[in-house]
Amino acid sequence: MAATDLERFSNEEKRNLALGGHVGFDSLPDQLVSKSVTQGFSFNILCVGETGIGKSTLMNTLFNTTFETEEASHYESAVRLRPRTYDLQESNVHLKLTIVDAVGFGDQINKDESYRPIVEYIDTQFENYLQEELKIRRSLFNYHDTRIHVCLYFITPTGHSLKSLDLVTMKKLDSKVNIIPIIAKADTISKSELHKFKIKIMSELVSNGVQIYQFPTDDDAVAEINSVMNAHLPFAVVGSTEEVKVGNKLVRARQYPWGVVQVENESHCDFVKLREMLIRVNMEDLREQTHTRHYELYRRCKLEEMGFKDTDPDSQPFSLQETYETKRKEFLGELQRKEEEMRQMFVNKVKETEAELKEKERELHEKFEHLKRIHQEEKRKVEEKRRELEEEMNAFNRRKVAVETLQSQSLQATSQQPLKKDKDKKNFFSLPSACSITSGRHVN
Ligand code: GTP
Ligand code: MG
Repeated sequence: MAATDLERFSNEEKRNLALGGHVGFDSLPDQLVSKSVTQGFSFNILCVGETGIGKSTLMNTLFNTTFETEEASHYESAVRLRPRTYDLQESNVHLKLTIVDAVGFGDQINKDESYRPIVEYIDTQFENYLQEELKIRRSLFNYHDTRIHVCLYFITPTGHSLKSLDLVTMKKLDSKVNIIPIIAKADTISKSELHKFKIKIMSELVSNGVQIYQFPTDDDAVAEINSVMNAHLPFAVVGSTEEVKVGNKLVRARQYPWGVVQVENESHCDFVKLREMLIRVNMEDLREQTHTRHYELYRRCKLEEMGFKDTDPDSQPFSLQETYETKRKEFLGELQRKEEEMRQMFVNKVKETEAELKEKERELHEKFEHLKRIHQEEKRKVEEKRRELEEEMNAFNRRKVAVETLQSQSLQATSQQPLKKDKDKKNFFSLPSACSITSGRHVN
Protein backbone atom coordinates (compact mmCIF):
# COMPACT_ATOMS: atom_id res chain seq x y z
CA MET A 1 0.00 0.00 0.00
CA ALA A 2 1.42 3.44 -0.96
CA ALA A 3 2.08 5.95 1.83
CA THR A 4 -0.65 8.37 0.61
CA ASP A 5 -3.26 5.55 0.58
CA LEU A 6 -2.21 4.65 4.07
CA GLU A 7 -2.60 8.24 5.26
CA ARG A 8 -6.06 8.54 3.65
CA PHE A 9 -7.11 5.24 5.19
CA SER A 10 -6.03 6.25 8.70
CA ASN A 11 -7.62 9.70 8.38
CA GLU A 12 -10.96 8.24 7.29
CA GLU A 13 -13.74 8.96 9.73
CA LYS A 14 -15.10 5.96 11.61
CA ARG A 15 -18.88 5.63 11.69
CA ASN A 16 -20.88 4.02 14.45
CA LEU A 17 -23.43 1.54 13.17
CA ALA A 18 -26.20 -0.16 15.09
CA LEU A 19 -26.63 -3.91 14.65
CA GLY A 20 -29.97 -5.30 13.57
CA GLY A 21 -29.73 -8.23 15.97
CA HIS A 22 -27.33 -10.46 17.98
CA VAL A 23 -24.25 -11.24 15.92
CA GLY A 24 -22.13 -12.95 18.55
CA PHE A 25 -18.76 -11.18 18.72
CA ASP A 26 -19.57 -10.26 22.29
CA SER A 27 -18.36 -13.78 23.06
CA LEU A 28 -14.80 -12.75 22.16
CA PRO A 29 -13.70 -12.31 25.81
CA ASP A 30 -15.13 -15.74 26.63
CA GLN A 31 -13.25 -17.21 23.67
CA LEU A 32 -10.07 -15.63 24.99
CA VAL A 33 -10.65 -17.01 28.50
CA SER A 34 -11.44 -20.47 27.17
CA LYS A 35 -8.32 -20.46 24.98
CA SER A 36 -6.09 -19.30 27.85
CA VAL A 37 -7.55 -21.88 30.20
CA THR A 38 -6.90 -24.67 27.71
CA GLN A 39 -3.38 -23.43 27.14
CA GLY A 40 -2.62 -23.14 30.87
CA PHE A 41 -0.47 -20.52 32.55
CA SER A 42 3.05 -20.28 33.75
CA PHE A 43 4.23 -18.25 36.71
CA ASN A 44 7.80 -17.99 37.89
CA ILE A 45 8.83 -16.77 41.31
CA LEU A 46 12.37 -15.94 42.34
CA CYS A 47 13.09 -16.11 46.07
CA VAL A 48 16.07 -14.07 47.22
CA GLY A 49 16.99 -14.00 50.87
CA GLU A 50 19.59 -15.34 53.22
CA THR A 51 19.78 -19.04 54.05
CA GLY A 52 17.11 -20.16 56.54
CA ILE A 53 15.10 -16.92 56.35
CA GLY A 54 11.88 -18.86 55.68
CA LYS A 55 11.64 -18.90 51.85
CA SER A 56 10.49 -22.50 51.47
CA THR A 57 8.05 -22.28 54.35
CA LEU A 58 6.45 -19.18 52.83
CA MET A 59 6.10 -20.86 49.40
CA ASN A 60 4.47 -23.88 51.01
CA THR A 61 2.13 -21.59 52.95
CA LEU A 62 1.27 -19.46 49.90
CA PHE A 63 0.30 -22.39 47.67
CA ASN A 64 -0.98 -24.52 50.54
CA THR A 65 1.07 -27.51 49.54
CA THR A 66 4.46 -29.04 50.26
CA PHE A 67 7.07 -28.40 47.61
CA GLU A 68 10.20 -30.51 47.72
CA THR A 69 12.69 -28.57 49.78
CA GLU A 70 15.95 -29.38 51.38
CA GLU A 71 17.91 -27.16 53.71
CA ALA A 72 20.66 -25.22 51.97
CA SER A 73 24.19 -25.37 53.30
CA HIS A 74 25.74 -22.23 54.74
CA TYR A 75 29.07 -23.03 53.07
CA GLU A 76 28.34 -22.42 49.39
CA SER A 77 31.32 -20.74 47.76
CA ALA A 78 29.02 -18.65 45.53
CA VAL A 79 25.34 -17.94 44.99
CA ARG A 80 23.67 -20.62 42.85
CA LEU A 81 20.21 -20.50 41.27
CA ARG A 82 18.06 -23.60 41.72
CA PRO A 83 14.82 -23.69 39.69
CA ARG A 84 12.08 -26.26 40.36
CA THR A 85 8.94 -26.53 38.27
CA TYR A 86 5.61 -27.94 39.46
CA ASP A 87 2.29 -28.52 37.73
CA LEU A 88 -0.56 -27.26 39.89
CA GLN A 89 -4.26 -27.33 39.23
CA GLU A 90 -7.08 -25.35 40.81
CA SER A 91 -10.62 -25.91 39.42
CA ASN A 92 -9.91 -26.30 35.69
CA VAL A 93 -6.92 -23.92 35.63
CA HIS A 94 -3.47 -25.43 35.13
CA LEU A 95 -0.53 -23.50 36.47
CA LYS A 96 3.07 -24.36 35.66
CA LEU A 97 4.79 -22.85 38.68
CA THR A 98 8.55 -22.44 38.81
CA ILE A 99 10.17 -21.50 42.11
CA VAL A 100 13.76 -20.38 41.79
CA ASP A 101 15.86 -20.26 44.95
CA ALA A 102 19.02 -18.16 45.20
CA VAL A 103 20.90 -20.77 47.21
CA GLY A 104 23.76 -19.52 49.40
CA PHE A 105 22.74 -15.86 49.18
CA GLY A 106 24.53 -13.82 51.86
CA ASP A 107 26.73 -16.70 53.03
CA GLN A 108 30.02 -15.67 51.45
CA ILE A 109 32.59 -13.51 53.26
CA ASN A 110 33.00 -11.37 50.16
CA LYS A 111 29.50 -10.53 48.94
CA ASP A 112 30.53 -8.15 46.14
CA GLU A 113 29.49 -10.57 43.41
CA SER A 114 26.41 -12.07 45.12
CA TYR A 115 23.97 -10.31 42.79
CA ARG A 116 25.73 -11.42 39.59
CA PRO A 117 24.47 -15.03 39.31
CA ILE A 118 20.92 -13.77 39.91
CA VAL A 119 21.17 -11.12 37.18
CA GLU A 120 22.72 -13.66 34.84
CA TYR A 121 19.93 -16.16 35.49
CA ILE A 122 17.23 -13.57 34.74
CA ASP A 123 19.04 -12.48 31.56
CA THR A 124 19.45 -16.07 30.40
CA GLN A 125 15.68 -16.59 30.61
CA PHE A 126 15.11 -13.41 28.57
CA GLU A 127 17.73 -14.53 26.06
CA ASN A 128 16.06 -17.95 25.66
CA TYR A 129 12.74 -16.25 24.96
CA LEU A 130 14.35 -13.83 22.48
CA GLN A 131 16.05 -16.71 20.67
CA GLU A 132 12.69 -18.47 20.37
CA GLU A 133 11.12 -15.26 19.01
CA LEU A 134 13.88 -14.84 16.44
CA LYS A 135 13.57 -18.41 15.13
CA ILE A 136 12.06 -18.87 11.68
CA ARG A 137 9.90 -21.69 12.98
CA ARG A 138 9.01 -20.36 16.39
CA SER A 139 6.62 -22.06 18.74
CA LEU A 140 5.80 -19.45 21.35
CA PHE A 141 2.37 -21.00 21.74
CA ASN A 142 3.66 -24.03 23.64
CA TYR A 143 6.99 -22.51 24.71
CA HIS A 144 7.74 -22.98 28.41
CA ASP A 145 8.26 -19.39 29.44
CA THR A 146 10.83 -19.35 32.23
CA ARG A 147 11.15 -15.57 32.52
CA ILE A 148 10.96 -14.47 36.16
CA HIS A 149 7.64 -12.75 36.84
CA VAL A 150 8.30 -11.70 40.40
CA CYS A 151 11.18 -11.56 42.82
CA LEU A 152 10.19 -11.95 46.45
CA TYR A 153 13.00 -10.24 48.31
CA PHE A 154 13.17 -11.55 51.90
CA ILE A 155 14.40 -8.87 54.31
CA THR A 156 15.91 -10.04 57.60
CA PRO A 157 13.79 -8.75 60.53
CA THR A 158 16.56 -6.80 62.22
CA GLY A 159 14.30 -3.84 63.05
CA HIS A 160 17.18 -1.53 62.12
CA SER A 161 17.68 -0.94 58.42
CA LEU A 162 18.44 -2.66 55.15
CA LYS A 163 21.88 -4.18 54.69
CA SER A 164 24.04 -2.84 51.89
CA LEU A 165 23.82 -6.29 50.25
CA ASP A 166 20.02 -5.85 50.07
CA LEU A 167 20.28 -2.40 48.53
CA VAL A 168 22.94 -3.39 45.99
CA THR A 169 21.08 -6.53 44.95
CA MET A 170 17.70 -4.84 44.62
CA LYS A 171 19.27 -1.97 42.66
CA LYS A 172 20.84 -4.44 40.22
CA LEU A 173 17.56 -6.31 39.81
CA ASP A 174 14.99 -3.55 39.65
CA SER A 175 15.20 -2.97 35.88
CA LYS A 176 14.97 -6.70 35.18
CA VAL A 177 12.24 -8.03 37.43
CA ASN A 178 9.23 -7.00 39.51
CA ILE A 179 10.51 -6.81 43.08
CA ILE A 180 8.18 -7.27 46.03
CA PRO A 181 10.11 -6.75 49.28
CA ILE A 182 8.87 -8.70 52.28
CA ILE A 183 9.97 -8.72 55.89
CA ALA A 184 10.46 -12.37 56.77
CA LYS A 185 9.75 -13.99 60.15
CA ALA A 186 7.73 -10.95 61.14
CA ASP A 187 6.67 -12.69 64.36
CA THR A 188 10.15 -11.96 65.73
CA ILE A 189 9.69 -8.20 65.69
CA SER A 190 7.38 -6.13 67.90
CA LYS A 191 4.46 -4.13 66.50
CA SER A 192 5.92 -0.67 67.12
CA GLU A 193 9.36 -1.70 65.87
CA LEU A 194 7.79 -3.20 62.75
CA HIS A 195 6.02 0.05 61.94
CA LYS A 196 9.25 2.04 62.20
CA PHE A 197 11.16 -0.67 60.31
CA LYS A 198 8.73 -0.51 57.38
CA ILE A 199 9.08 3.29 57.15
CA LYS A 200 12.86 3.04 57.35
CA ILE A 201 13.01 0.41 54.60
CA MET A 202 10.81 2.42 52.25
CA SER A 203 12.79 5.61 52.79
CA GLU A 204 16.06 3.76 52.19
CA LEU A 205 14.71 2.26 48.97
CA VAL A 206 13.58 5.68 47.77
CA SER A 207 16.84 7.44 48.70
CA ASN A 208 18.85 4.76 46.90
CA GLY A 209 16.65 4.92 43.81
CA VAL A 210 15.48 1.31 44.04
CA GLN A 211 12.29 0.79 42.02
CA ILE A 212 10.06 -1.82 43.57
CA TYR A 213 6.91 -3.22 41.97
CA GLN A 214 3.84 -1.02 42.50
CA PHE A 215 0.45 -2.71 42.35
CA PRO A 216 -1.30 -1.14 39.33
CA THR A 217 -3.95 1.48 39.95
CA ASP A 218 -5.06 2.09 36.36
CA ASP A 219 -7.74 -0.61 36.34
CA ASP A 220 -10.82 0.68 38.20
CA ALA A 221 -11.75 -2.79 39.41
CA VAL A 222 -8.57 -3.12 41.49
CA ALA A 223 -7.36 0.48 41.76
CA GLU A 224 -8.62 1.00 45.29
CA ILE A 225 -7.33 -2.17 46.87
CA ASN A 226 -4.02 -1.88 45.04
CA SER A 227 -3.39 1.68 46.17
CA VAL A 228 -4.20 0.71 49.79
CA MET A 229 -1.82 -2.25 49.53
CA ASN A 230 0.96 -0.14 48.01
CA ALA A 231 0.95 1.80 51.27
CA HIS A 232 1.48 -1.43 53.24
CA LEU A 233 4.71 -2.38 51.50
CA PRO A 234 6.95 -4.08 52.50
CA PHE A 235 4.67 -6.86 53.70
CA ALA A 236 5.63 -8.39 57.02
CA VAL A 237 4.95 -12.10 56.70
CA VAL A 238 4.92 -15.23 58.80
CA GLY A 239 5.03 -18.67 57.26
CA SER A 240 3.89 -21.98 58.64
CA THR A 241 2.26 -25.16 57.42
CA GLU A 242 1.57 -26.35 60.94
CA GLU A 243 -2.12 -26.45 61.90
CA VAL A 244 -3.13 -25.29 65.37
CA LYS A 245 -6.59 -25.37 66.96
CA VAL A 246 -7.78 -21.85 67.72
CA GLY A 247 -11.28 -21.81 69.20
CA ASN A 248 -12.94 -24.62 67.35
CA LYS A 249 -11.11 -24.03 64.08
CA LEU A 250 -7.85 -25.45 62.75
CA VAL A 251 -5.69 -22.64 61.45
CA ARG A 252 -2.17 -22.41 60.08
CA ALA A 253 -0.08 -20.87 62.78
CA ARG A 254 3.16 -20.86 64.72
CA GLN A 255 2.73 -21.90 68.29
CA TYR A 256 4.92 -20.48 71.04
CA PRO A 257 4.92 -21.00 74.82
CA TRP A 258 3.31 -17.57 75.22
CA GLY A 259 0.78 -17.76 72.40
CA VAL A 260 -0.09 -18.49 68.79
CA VAL A 261 0.79 -16.45 65.68
CA GLN A 262 -1.88 -17.05 63.08
CA VAL A 263 -0.58 -16.84 59.54
CA GLU A 264 -3.89 -15.81 58.01
CA ASN A 265 -4.85 -13.36 60.73
CA GLU A 266 -4.39 -9.86 59.33
CA SER A 267 -3.80 -8.37 62.77
CA HIS A 268 -0.89 -10.82 63.25
CA CYS A 269 0.91 -10.37 59.90
CA ASP A 270 0.56 -9.35 56.24
CA PHE A 271 0.52 -12.89 54.81
CA VAL A 272 -3.04 -12.55 53.51
CA LYS A 273 -2.22 -9.22 51.90
CA LEU A 274 0.74 -10.77 50.13
CA ARG A 275 -1.31 -13.73 48.89
CA GLU A 276 -4.09 -11.44 47.69
CA MET A 277 -1.73 -9.15 45.84
CA LEU A 278 0.59 -11.77 44.43
CA ILE A 279 -1.81 -14.51 43.44
CA ARG A 280 -5.40 -13.39 43.49
CA VAL A 281 -5.25 -9.83 42.14
CA ASN A 282 -2.03 -9.08 40.31
CA MET A 283 -0.63 -12.33 38.96
CA GLU A 284 -1.58 -11.40 35.40
CA ASP A 285 -0.21 -7.88 35.79
CA LEU A 286 3.10 -9.30 37.00
CA ARG A 287 3.23 -11.53 33.91
CA GLU A 288 2.33 -8.61 31.66
CA GLN A 289 4.84 -6.22 33.25
CA THR A 290 7.54 -8.84 32.80
CA HIS A 291 6.77 -9.05 29.11
CA THR A 292 6.05 -5.42 28.29
CA ARG A 293 8.56 -3.69 30.55
CA HIS A 294 11.44 -5.88 31.60
CA TYR A 295 11.65 -8.21 28.63
CA GLU A 296 11.07 -5.31 26.23
CA LEU A 297 14.00 -3.42 27.77
CA TYR A 298 16.23 -6.47 27.47
CA ARG A 299 15.12 -7.09 23.88
CA ARG A 300 15.64 -3.45 22.88
CA CYS A 301 19.15 -3.29 24.36
CA LYS A 302 20.05 -6.62 22.80
CA LEU A 303 18.79 -5.70 19.33
CA GLU A 304 20.48 -2.29 19.50
CA GLU A 305 23.68 -4.04 20.53
CA MET A 306 23.30 -6.19 17.42
CA GLY A 307 22.98 -3.03 15.31
CA PHE A 308 19.21 -2.95 14.73
CA LYS A 309 17.43 0.41 14.86
CA ASP A 310 13.87 1.60 14.29
CA THR A 311 14.90 4.70 12.27
CA ASP A 312 18.03 5.64 10.34
CA PRO A 313 19.85 9.00 10.91
CA ASP A 314 17.34 10.72 8.52
CA SER A 315 14.43 9.50 10.67
CA GLN A 316 13.35 7.10 7.92
CA PRO A 317 12.13 3.68 8.97
CA PHE A 318 15.09 1.39 9.18
CA SER A 319 14.96 -1.58 6.88
CA LEU A 320 15.77 -4.99 8.36
CA GLN A 321 17.24 -5.99 5.01
CA GLU A 322 19.59 -2.97 5.01
CA THR A 323 20.65 -3.64 8.61
CA TYR A 324 21.33 -7.23 7.71
CA GLU A 325 23.35 -6.22 4.63
CA THR A 326 25.38 -3.64 6.61
CA LYS A 327 26.04 -6.14 9.38
CA ARG A 328 26.98 -8.79 6.83
CA LYS A 329 29.42 -6.42 5.13
CA GLU A 330 30.88 -5.43 8.51
CA PHE A 331 31.22 -9.08 9.42
CA LEU A 332 32.88 -10.02 6.11
CA GLY A 333 35.24 -7.02 6.40
CA GLU A 334 36.14 -8.08 9.91
CA LEU A 335 36.64 -11.66 8.74
CA GLN A 336 38.95 -10.49 5.93
CA ARG A 337 40.89 -8.29 8.31
CA LYS A 338 41.31 -11.21 10.73
CA GLU A 339 42.39 -13.48 7.86
CA GLU A 340 44.98 -10.94 6.69
CA GLU A 341 46.18 -10.52 10.26
CA MET A 342 46.60 -14.27 10.65
CA ARG A 343 48.38 -14.57 7.29
CA GLN A 344 50.79 -11.80 8.29
CA MET A 345 51.31 -13.48 11.62
CA PHE A 346 52.10 -16.74 9.84
CA VAL A 347 54.59 -15.06 7.48
CA ASN A 348 56.30 -13.35 10.42
CA LYS A 349 56.50 -16.64 12.29
CA VAL A 350 58.04 -18.37 9.27
CA LYS A 351 60.57 -15.51 8.90
CA GLU A 352 61.43 -15.70 12.57
CA THR A 353 61.91 -19.47 12.40
CA GLU A 354 64.04 -19.12 9.27
CA ALA A 355 66.26 -16.52 10.95
CA GLU A 356 66.57 -18.76 14.00
CA LEU A 357 67.55 -21.72 11.82
CA LYS A 358 70.12 -19.62 9.95
CA GLU A 359 71.60 -18.43 13.22
CA LYS A 360 71.81 -22.04 14.43
CA GLU A 361 73.47 -23.07 11.14
CA ARG A 362 76.00 -20.28 11.46
CA GLU A 363 76.79 -21.29 15.03
CA LEU A 364 77.21 -24.93 13.97
CA HIS A 365 79.50 -23.89 11.13
CA GLU A 366 81.63 -21.82 13.48
CA LYS A 367 81.82 -24.75 15.87
CA PHE A 368 82.84 -27.02 13.02
CA GLU A 369 85.57 -24.59 11.88
CA HIS A 370 86.85 -24.31 15.43
CA LEU A 371 86.99 -28.08 15.84
CA LYS A 372 88.71 -28.34 12.46
CA ARG A 373 91.37 -25.87 13.56
CA ILE A 374 91.92 -27.75 16.81
CA HIS A 375 92.16 -30.98 14.88
CA GLN A 376 94.74 -29.53 12.45
CA GLU A 377 96.79 -28.16 15.32
CA GLU A 378 96.72 -31.55 17.04
CA LYS A 379 97.69 -33.19 13.80
CA ARG A 380 100.60 -30.79 13.36
CA LYS A 381 101.79 -31.46 16.90
CA VAL A 382 101.56 -35.23 16.40
CA GLU A 383 103.50 -34.87 13.13
CA GLU A 384 106.21 -32.91 14.90
CA LYS A 385 106.35 -35.45 17.66
CA ARG A 386 106.62 -38.20 15.08
CA ARG A 387 109.48 -36.39 13.34
CA GLU A 388 111.27 -35.91 16.63
CA LEU A 389 110.85 -39.55 17.51
CA GLU A 390 112.12 -40.58 14.08
CA GLU A 391 115.16 -38.38 14.51
CA GLU A 392 115.76 -39.88 17.93
CA MET A 393 115.39 -43.34 16.49
CA ASN A 394 117.92 -42.53 13.75
CA ALA A 395 120.33 -41.11 16.32
CA PHE A 396 119.85 -44.18 18.43
CA ASN A 397 120.49 -46.43 15.47
CA ARG A 398 123.64 -44.47 14.63
CA ARG A 399 124.87 -44.80 18.18
CA LYS A 400 124.00 -48.45 18.16
CA VAL A 401 126.06 -48.96 14.99
CA ALA A 402 128.90 -46.96 16.54
CA VAL A 403 128.74 -49.04 19.69
CA GLU A 404 128.69 -52.25 17.72
CA THR A 405 131.68 -51.09 15.68
CA LEU A 406 133.56 -50.17 18.83
CA GLN A 407 132.60 -53.45 20.39
CA SER A 408 133.91 -55.45 17.48
CA GLN A 409 137.08 -53.31 17.45
CA SER A 410 137.61 -53.88 21.13
CA LEU A 411 137.02 -57.58 20.74
CA GLN A 412 139.66 -57.64 18.05
CA ALA A 413 142.00 -55.65 20.27
CA THR A 414 141.39 -57.97 23.21
CA SER A 415 142.24 -60.96 21.23
CA GLN A 416 145.50 -59.27 20.21
CA GLN A 417 146.46 -57.68 23.61
CA PRO A 418 145.04 -59.74 26.47
CA LEU A 419 146.98 -57.72 28.97
CA LYS A 420 145.25 -54.49 28.03
CA LYS A 421 141.81 -56.06 28.76
CA ASP A 422 140.98 -54.08 31.88
CA LYS A 423 141.89 -50.75 30.33
CA ASP A 424 139.79 -51.40 27.23
CA LYS A 425 136.88 -52.39 29.39
CA LYS A 426 137.06 -49.03 31.09
CA ASN A 427 137.07 -47.29 27.71
CA PHE A 428 134.07 -49.28 26.64
CA PHE A 429 131.96 -48.10 29.62
CA SER A 430 132.87 -44.48 29.03
CA LEU A 431 131.76 -44.78 25.36
CA PRO A 432 128.18 -43.43 25.63
CA SER A 433 129.40 -40.01 26.67
CA ALA A 434 131.84 -40.09 23.85
CA CYS A 435 129.09 -41.14 21.47
CA SER A 436 126.74 -38.45 22.70
CA ILE A 437 129.38 -35.87 22.03
CA THR A 438 129.76 -37.31 18.50
CA SER A 439 126.00 -37.37 17.79
CA GLY A 440 125.30 -34.08 19.64
CA ARG A 441 122.24 -35.72 21.36
CA HIS A 442 121.60 -37.53 24.63
CA VAL A 443 119.58 -40.74 24.63
CA ASN A 444 117.47 -41.35 27.70
P1 GTP B 1 17.08 -22.47 52.95
O1 GTP B 1 16.31 -22.96 51.76
O2 GTP B 1 17.84 -23.51 53.65
O3 GTP B 1 17.87 -21.25 52.63
O4 GTP B 1 16.04 -22.00 54.05
P2 GTP B 1 14.66 -21.25 53.79
O5 GTP B 1 14.90 -19.82 53.58
O6 GTP B 1 13.88 -21.97 52.77
O7 GTP B 1 13.98 -21.40 55.22
P3 GTP B 1 12.96 -22.49 55.68
O8 GTP B 1 11.62 -22.25 55.12
O9 GTP B 1 13.55 -23.83 55.48
O10 GTP B 1 12.88 -22.15 57.24
C1 GTP B 1 14.00 -22.17 58.08
C2 GTP B 1 13.55 -22.15 59.53
O11 GTP B 1 12.82 -20.96 59.80
C3 GTP B 1 12.60 -23.28 59.86
O12 GTP B 1 12.88 -23.74 61.15
C4 GTP B 1 11.22 -22.63 59.85
O13 GTP B 1 10.29 -23.27 60.71
C5 GTP B 1 11.56 -21.26 60.33
N1 GTP B 1 10.58 -20.29 59.85
C6 GTP B 1 10.04 -20.24 58.62
N2 GTP B 1 9.19 -19.22 58.53
C7 GTP B 1 9.19 -18.61 59.74
C8 GTP B 1 8.52 -17.47 60.29
O14 GTP B 1 7.73 -16.81 59.65
N3 GTP B 1 8.78 -17.13 61.59
C9 GTP B 1 9.65 -17.82 62.33
N4 GTP B 1 9.85 -17.44 63.58
N5 GTP B 1 10.31 -18.90 61.86
C10 GTP B 1 10.08 -19.28 60.59
MG1 MG C 1 14.49 -23.45 51.36
